[in-house]
Amino acid sequence: MKLLLNTLFLALMVGTFSCTTDQLDMAEVDLRLEQVLAQVSPTGDSNSFQLPEAGDYSQFLQDSNNPMTPEKVELGKLLFFETGLAKDALKDIGKDTYSCSSCHVPEKGFMPGRVQGIADGGIGFGNAGEARSRFHLYEENEMDVQGARPLSLLNVGFVNNTSWSGQFGAGGINEGTEDKWEGATEVNNLGYAGLESQNIEGLHLHRMDASEENLRALGYKEMFDKAFPNFPTHERYSEVTTSFALSAYLRTLIPNEAPFQEWLKGDMHAMNDQEKEGAILFFGKAGCVNCHQGPGLNNQKFYAVGVKDLYETGEAFNTGPNDIRNLGRGGFTDVADDLYKYKVPQLYNLKNSPFYFHGSSKNSIRSVVEYFNEGKKENANVPSQNISGFFHPLDLSYEEVTSITRFLENSLYDENLSRYMPEEVLSGNCFPNNDILSRVQMGCE
Ligand code: HEC
Ligand code: HEC
Repeated sequence: MKLLLNTLFLALMVGTFSCTTDQLDMAEVDLRLEQVLAQVSPTGDSNSFQLPEAGDYSQFLQDSNNPMTPEKVELGKLLFFETGLAKDALKDIGKDTYSCSSCHVPEKGFMPGRVQGIADGGIGFGNAGEARSRFHLYEENEMDVQGARPLSLLNVGFVNNTSWSGQFGAGGINEGTEDKWEGATEVNNLGYAGLESQNIEGLHLHRMDASEENLRALGYKEMFDKAFPNFPTHERYSEVTTSFALSAYLRTLIPNEAPFQEWLKGDMHAMNDQEKEGAILFFGKAGCVNCHQGPGLNNQKFYAVGVKDLYETGEAFNTGPNDIRNLGRGGFTDVADDLYKYKVPQLYNLKNSPFYFHGSSKNSIRSVVEYFNEGKKENANVPSQNISGFFHPLDLSYEEVTSITRFLENSLYDENLSRYMPEEVLSGNCFPNNDILSRVQMGCE
């Protein structure tokens, strides 16, 4: 970018004589964006917001027990969509009908496309997840659903401790929380990073069978042999190696073809002026970057911004006022100061799944930006002293809110996420879902 800056200065000077006013404006707005990025970047230049190129594994937070390899990534890419893993369904009719991607749908930015994700106990897909609903043969309390909206899986390569409360992973911010590792977080005692830990627990929670018997039956033996040659054969086909492959794949989910990324790489035409003004506000006056940092605009920090919980939508199953997920990080650590604080989520490809915040309380990106602009908590349970000092009225004009909205909707949108989907999975099953209604809607019948 340094070279680019020099070119811009030069263009500005020469421009007085040879450029049209239009080109001058353009260069000026690019220059302002470049300057504001440099000011807020920990490295002093805009590179810290640039996402890695495909295959550049060195840029991701990794578990030293599970270094990324192309073989693991390729295997994980199939397992994530493999409905054949769904053998531990509560009822026979649910078997083989769901996958990880039932709740993390690529077309929906790896979110569910509805207020809540449903795997076992759900039926239907619609165009891309939005029409999934309760299967009438399952009672509400028999469904696999959680009391918070699924996080997007884009940019998890920059996440050390996973989930909204950061409860997974032995290291990082969870050092010192060892006495809380029980129930779902008992898995942290294995000593792995967030993704490796959460994905082991996720296989149980989401009723998936990653036993040697099932993995072999589905046809994955050879791929595990290639991905884990150093594991003794009796440990090679297991939920640990399944989690390792899934984790390696998830780290590659990088929206690096988004226009803002193209701009960072030097294509000044990738964004229009309004989007650039929005970016200048996001990284400048509006203070979004105080919390949304780094290449994924996610963060290892936790803040309370006082949003409503999932049960308040009135549309979510099996959750309510006493759901532990309503307490944020404090629900895991039992520390009063952590109550109602949630991990800062990534901000790419949000527009296709219009259910924002952990409680899906907002239905448009504009309403999220307006919420931050107003700076007033909407959840009465959250005490004011827990709310972050960065959350306060911003006094942005209507046009400024529009610019930030356009920046989020368009500049942070990679329209080619289908590159992260397999053509088919080894079972030959339909995916992400394989229940009878989904099969019809997805054209598998
Ligand atoms: C029933 C819906 C559902 C299914 C199926 C599902 N997830 Fe999730 N996922 C969620 C929800 C909800 C969250 C957020 C939970 C929380 O933070 O409390 C989440 C969070 C995550 C995260 C944390 C991301 C972050 O930034 O911290 C990862 C990783 C993840 N899921 C991976 C998977 C994998 C791998 C599978 C398949 C084994 C899977 N998920 C299946 C609903 C689902
Ligand atoms: C105090 C830190 C902080 C500031 C400042 C902040 N955010 Fe956030 N942002 C968060 C946290 C934490 C969440 C998740 C909150 C929750 O769900 O409980 C979030 C969620 C979001 C979401 C929803 C993402 C999703 O997956 O649902 C968007 C969009 C967003 N922020 C955009 C912005 C914009 C735009 C600004 C500036 C106007 C901004 N944020 C300022 C911390 C912050």
